[in-house]
Amino acid sequence: MQFPMPMELVAAGSSPAPEPAVEAGTVAGDAAAEAAEAAEALEHAAASVAVVGLGYVGLPTALALLAAGNEVIGLDASEARLDAIRRRDVDLLPSDHERLAASLAGDPSASGFTLTSDPARLADARTVLICVPTPVDKHQVPDLSAMAAACATAVAHAVPGQLLVLTSTTYVGTTRDLLVGPLAARGLVAGRDIFVAFSPERIDPGNSRHTQESTPRVVGGSGARSTRIAAAVLHRTAPSVHVLPSPEDAEMTKLWENTFRAVNIALANEFAEDCRGLGLDPSPIIAAAATKPYGFMPFYPGPGVGGHCIPCDPHYLLWQLRAKRISSPLIDAAMTAIAGRPRQVVRRVRELLADRGLSVSGARVLLVGVAYKPGVADLRESPALEIMEELQEDGAKVHFTDPLVPVVRLGSEVLTSETAPEEDSWDLILVHTVHPDADLGWLAGLTTVLDATYRLDSVPARSIL
Ligand SMILES: NC(=O)c1ccc[n+]([C@@H]2O[C@H](COP(=O)([O-])OP(=O)(O)OC[C@H]3O[C@@H](n4cnc5c(N)ncnc54)[C@H](O)[C@@H]3O)[C@@H](O)[C@H]2O)c1
Repeated sequence: MQFPMPMELVAAGSSPAPEPAVEAGTVAGDAAAEAAEAAEALEHAAASVAVVGLGYVGLPTALALLAAGNEVIGLDASEARLDAIRRRDVDLLPSDHERLAASLAGDPSASGFTLTSDPARLADARTVLICVPTPVDKHQVPDLSAMAAACATAVAHAVPGQLLVLTSTTYVGTTRDLLVGPLAARGLVAGRDIFVAFSPERIDPGNSRHTQESTPRVVGGSGARSTRIAAAVLHRTAPSVHVLPSPEDAEMTKLWENTFRAVNIALANEFAEDCRGLGLDPSPIIAAAATKPYGFMPFYPGPGVGGHCIPCDPHYLLWQLRAKRISSPLIDAAMTAIAGRPRQVVRRVRELLADRGLSVSGARVLLVGVAYKPGVADLRESPALEIMEELQEDGAKVHFTDPLVPVVRLGSEVLTSETAPEEDSWDLILVHTVHPDADLGWLAGLTTVLDATYRLDSVPARSIL
């Protein structure tokens, strides 16, 4: 269901809706009520927004709202993060860097952007968007601590008429458990005294092709009024808003999006192994299959998955299903395969070194690119970390080069990015991440390259996983 937007909320480029014909008093009454509801939503959407958690998702969200003309209060529990934002020492798309620079220039009271660690400031905002981390622990069990703390803070400072929107990826039922229920305990009934919704984030850090302004949002509110107001706020920075009947539907939508991706990446990795077993390169086969205009969507093999989403989010679903004694064997198998992928890379490194009569112990191995994906400096859950650790444990002399990542900490050791790797000699070069505009021409003539990205056509003698 697409939310019926009042005229002012229809995405740019869409044609104006015809004026509704008013035929009877009751209909006119409905039309008047609808107009009042639309006006309420529009008025709310233009008012101030607090963004809780200014990380990879929250900071660009805050900057997009500022660009849309909202006053924004950015709340983060970490003073170090707030200082980094003030210094502009943060990982953002170039367009967001420009927005940040503009918002920090001149008189802070005139920019409309307040940076604070004081949760009492939440009461000054008409809308509170919660974008805090939802990782898993080392046993792959959801770590709800940051989200529970942020929701408790939002509830403690909530004021009547406010809208609270949870956007962190999470288990089904979180919005009710951490917002609707605790607000009711404070005497604030969602949908009547205060408005509550869930809307999953769809920001893709490092991706300038799919901006917030070009990516539709999904929302499910606690009651129609919550949904309507939340859709209007989200529409400030999204071209359209797809409405679902409940927060639970919206929570499950995000889990489905990322579980779908995880399972397909695991399948692509397995397919790549199958191809190698048959002496084939999977890349041209995937490209050929992708010419089919229906029923196929390309996913690409690689050294594993990293970041805050794909390695974590499906575990929120599996964890919840386990508690209900529901098995989901396909998702389970995919996540196990994903977790084991870096070890497979290490096995292949061993194999290639052994083919040349070398042992891992003492071998000089260079990783090219260690961020978890192209275009970001983010090392969270990067497969490169596990690969480097395992190679080091086997006695390899591990080095790396990455234009976006100056240092990597492995246990007590700090490795520094090689700035002229082409001037050295390496027993094996493992290409893990290729950043946009990376100049890897120096690899072209080498026979010692293991391409874990499957995309380095410019290195004809490379090996693949
Ligand atoms: N990074 C992505 O690619 C991405 C994409 C879509 C959705 N998400 C989801 O968005 C959510 C946020 O992820 P992220 O990558 O932005 O996280 P992040 O770690 O980059 O940033 C989170 C920020 O929240 C702050 N914070 C933590 N607890 C807080 C609290 N109680 N009060 C105030 N601030 C607090 C931290 O200091 C940090 O600055 C997660 O649920 C994630 O799954 C992430």
